[in-house]
Amino acid sequence: MKEMIIVVDFGGQYNQLIARRVRECNVYCEVYPYKKALAKIKELQPIGVIFTGGPNSVYEEKAPKIEAELFELGIPVLGLCYGMQLMAQMLGGKVSKADSKEFGKTVTELDTTSLLFKGLEEETLTWMSHVDYVQELPKGFKIIAKTENCPIAAMEDKEKKFYAMQYHPEVLHSEKGTDMIRNFLYEVCKAEGSWTMKNYAKQAIESIRAQVGDGKVVLALSGGVDSSVVAALISKAIGSQLTCIFVDHGLMRKNEGDEVEAAFKDSGMHFIRVDAEKRFLDRLAGVSDPETKRKIIGEEFIRVFEEEGRKIGSVDFLAQGTIYPDVIESGEGDAAVIKSHHNVGGLPAVVDFKGLIEPLRALFKDEVRQLGLEVGLAEYLVWRQPFPGPGLAIRVMGEITKEKLDILREADYIFREEIAKAGLDRSINQYFAVLTTTKTVGVMGDFRTYDYTLALRGVTTTDFMTADWARIPYEVLDKVSSRIVNEVDHINRIVYDITSKPPSTIEWE
Ligand code: XMP
Repeated sequence: MKEMIIVVDFGGQYNQLIARRVRECNVYCEVYPYKKALAKIKELQPIGVIFTGGPNSVYEEKAPKIEAELFELGIPVLGLCYGMQLMAQMLGGKVSKADSKEFGKTVTELDTTSLLFKGLEEETLTWMSHVDYVQELPKGFKIIAKTENCPIAAMEDKEKKFYAMQYHPEVLHSEKGTDMIRNFLYEVCKAEGSWTMKNYAKQAIESIRAQVGDGKVVLALSGGVDSSVVAALISKAIGSQLTCIFVDHGLMRKNEGDEVEAAFKDSGMHFIRVDAEKRFLDRLAGVSDPETKRKIIGEEFIRVFEEEGRKIGSVDFLAQGTIYPDVIESGEGDAAVIKSHHNVGGLPAVVDFKGLIEPLRALFKDEVRQLGLEVGLAEYLVWRQPFPGPGLAIRVMGEITKEKLDILREADYIFREEIAKAGLDRSINQYFAVLTTTKTVGVMGDFRTYDYTLALRGVTTTDFMTADWARIPYEVLDKVSSRIVNEVDHINRIVYDITSKPPSTIEWE
């Protein structure tokens, strides 16, 4: 990538967000931990550098720093929050601790003659979250923004192209934050803006062709967004040299296996759907402990994959849907990461191959979706909500039987259908039904019933590490409830899960 920005990670919570904002402005960027950053900057010659925030105080003994040499490379630098304080301290300014924390949306006055604020109004709201602040400017700098409590809310040394902001422009609460980042990229760093998924798809296809030559590639396709996009992209690049193995463990949602097959069967690749329902259900029979269920499914998956792999014979490359957040979270930034998800972890050990192909390694989730659309993947696959590898096995509480799976499948289908009809399918990030072990008494017509309780779960979240329960309108819940008890046998009571994560998890098992 000839035009890039390097984000130097000082441990702040919004680091990935900064990178995503830069990419939204059509400029490619990579995130590196501060200890490795200078070497990477020298190697990759970015058009600009952005320092992230971080939890430390620049005066702490172990505070993360970067070598002063960086400021002599002639590359524009943008410091954010801790990044601003570090820049100020290293360049001869003074950083102090304020009496109280400045936190939240803050009215900020901008000097709109600065390139950073070009085209903006003089007053805007920014998102502040700091105790330390820059008390005295380093030499050569001038103030370009202030708030009531923070006299130096932003600063610049126009000549050296050093800019810094105390607030967080990457957070959407900073109304014009993205415009400020865009100004840094285009006005200061003179970016051209060539990062689009259209360009990326073209390049990725070329580089897959170059890497693979006339070799064979195998991919474990789950039907989830990442592996589906990898499949579509690689098959576009090398067609029949790709074999996708789709292990249908019989724990998918209603119609899902057929949908995945329909989407890929005629795409030019070798598509193998292994109907392994019986094997999985036999092995799961009588098992009710959640972790044991997961372990059995993981093992069985590898066994099936191994058997199919042997039928194909020698394979040159294994493709994986590793995405950029996995790479960043490994703390390495450039090391090979092999997903530890049950359905891919362990595969390299059982299938002999020369190399890995990971065409999503540089992409964020939203970019993966855009790429999917770019390579012609159906919208319903691109926008599919996350689905756990062990599938419905962890949504049927306790012991699993085919009958219970079928009940859950029907109920879950109705729930999903009504959520989509209400137009909530993109705003609720994950939603599904859970078949509990609880049976309760009900009355239907003139008959007493004694049947299962079904739970509905819907959450809103950005990272799936924390989540809030979704405020689904009562009318929608009402419709779902009456349809399920009327249309699905063996369910006579429905409850809605109103716990957030933590203390609960998103899945019930
Ligand atoms: P929890 O239940 O831990 O789930 O709050 C967080 C997210 O991860 C998904 N999940 C899994 N995904 N294998 C997967 O591939 C698993 O074993 C697994 N367990 C949970 C869950 O659906 C949610 O999106």
